[in-house]
Amino acid sequence: MAKYRIAWLPGDGVGNDVMECARLVLDKLALDAEYIHGDIGWEFWKAEGEALPQRTTDMMKNTDCALFGAITSMPKEEAAKALKPELQDKGFVYFSPIVRLRQQFNLHTNLRPCKAYPGNPLNYKDEVDIVIFRENTEGMYGGVEFHPLPQAVFDALNENHPKMGKFEKFGLDNIALSTRIMTRQGCENIVTQAFEYARKFGRKSVTVVDKPNVLRETGGLMIRTAREVAKKYPGIDLWETNIDAQCMWFVKNPEIYEVVVAENMFGDILSDLAAQLVGGLGFASSANMGDDYAVFEPTHGSAPKYAGQYKVNPTAMLLTTKMMLDWLGETGMADRLESAIGAVIAEARARTYDMGGSNTSLEVTQAVVEKL
Ligand code: IPM
Ligand code: MG
Repeated sequence: MAKYRIAWLPGDGVGNDVMECARLVLDKLALDAEYIHGDIGWEFWKAEGEALPQRTTDMMKNTDCALFGAITSMPKEEAAKALKPELQDKGFVYFSPIVRLRQQFNLHTNLRPCKAYPGNPLNYKDEVDIVIFRENTEGMYGGVEFHPLPQAVFDALNENHPKMGKFEKFGLDNIALSTRIMTRQGCENIVTQAFEYARKFGRKSVTVVDKPNVLRETGGLMIRTAREVAKKYPGIDLWETNIDAQCMWFVKNPEIYEVVVAENMFGDILSDLAAQLVGGLGFASSANMGDDYAVFEPTHGSAPKYAGQYKVNPTAMLLTTKMMLDWLGETGMADRLESAIGAVIAEARARTYDMGGSNTSLEVTQAVVEKL
């Protein structure tokens, strides 16, 4: 029996292309693993009205972790129109499978490293080396939303905040409400993960990003909790910033930030911005981690127009594979893989179009395989 069982979830679009690349390096490294395919993605939404079939999550429960490619997602009306005719108007509602996986498997911590590899012509600044910890299950991703607004919700809001009364004139049907629910436990967990990481890797500061001057309760809870946690790590500074200012500072002097921690939506925004500092989404890897399960995914989307063309940069997926190896405890393999990726970038061995090259995803991967 293989040492590891890994759920293999290519998804759709370029998800398939980059997963093929991941497999090439895993095979070269000879990871002792069994890869179990799982149906997931747009194709299953269109055909079954379910982008994340139950059979897939059942299968995942018998694996150590999952590697995920990419999935097309669309707002609810567009998604409904894509269903096959027999399923139209039957009440199927599209929800992003990756967001659901994070919820179902309680993958509370999203780790997103953004490191400028030497020699990458797309680096914004060569010194950037930021690690983002994004809370992954709460905040605006909790799925508690209303439209039209139920009367009971309106009444409750009105009671606690009499100014809501002025919304009465709009009518319940004309009010939409998305909630941002945060817990002390959620904040404490993500900030603790960030500090633990800083301690383990010798980083000197952790920056907590929110907007407590406006979001006084949720933002306030995050900042207050961060201050409590920080007391346990006397050698590491806690920096507190607002999301808007942090976006500006990431552009102004990104090299001074080491570990950055934020709630879900702010972490989502910051991680795209930080990815662009080190070459864009072609370089952005991520790990969705719970207490004993994890789903690894490149931060990029499915880019349907490039599907099957092996055009996109596989680096994000290969770095994601490195994160999976680390999580499995195969740190030797992870280090070798990262060095090989770094060498291919530095030596300009093979480059996809985003880097000004004309190589395919497979050729770039082949160069990494040769380095290995
Ligand atoms: C990400 C993506 C997802 C998110 C989308 C695809 C739902 O942007 O992983 O950052 O918003 O979390
Ligand atoms: Mg995002």
